[in-house]
Amino acid sequence: MKKILVATSVIGLLAASCTPKAVATATTTTNPIKSTEAQIAQGKLAFENSCGKCHKLPDPASHTAVEWVGIMNSMAPKAKLTEEQHQWVYDYIVSAK
Ligand code: HEC
Repeated sequence: MKKILVATSVIGLLAASCTPKAVATATTTTNPIKSTEAQIAQGKLAFENSCGKCHKLPDPASHTAVEWVGIMNSMAPKAKLTEEQHQWVYDYIVSAK
């Protein structure tokens, strides 16, 4: 579980680290990128509302956290998620496993 959260924040970091400033900030605080519970709740809502339209709602436990990265990369545009929603849905899925 801890490992998964670390992996998630690394992805968040990669996404947010376009400027050197973002990296500098990340090193001074404990974990600024991790989604909050409210964001994960948003992710759950978006998941339940968007991901069952074309097929049955997938089971978060049916794929590994790493597989979900690729799946979300192909499914988020299909579900017309914003970048933030993409991240939140991913964080919800890995937290629900
Ligand atoms: C516009 C229709 C559509 C939406 C919305 C959609 N999907 Fe899919 N999904 C598909 C289709 C078509 C496939 C099968 C073909 C493929 O893999 O591209 C698929 C396949 C999948 C698979 C199986 C992939 C595999 O490799 O086994 C998963 C898991 C999945 N979707 C998850 C999601 C999630 C999570 C969301 C919400 C973010 C979502 N889908 C939204 C159309 C959609």
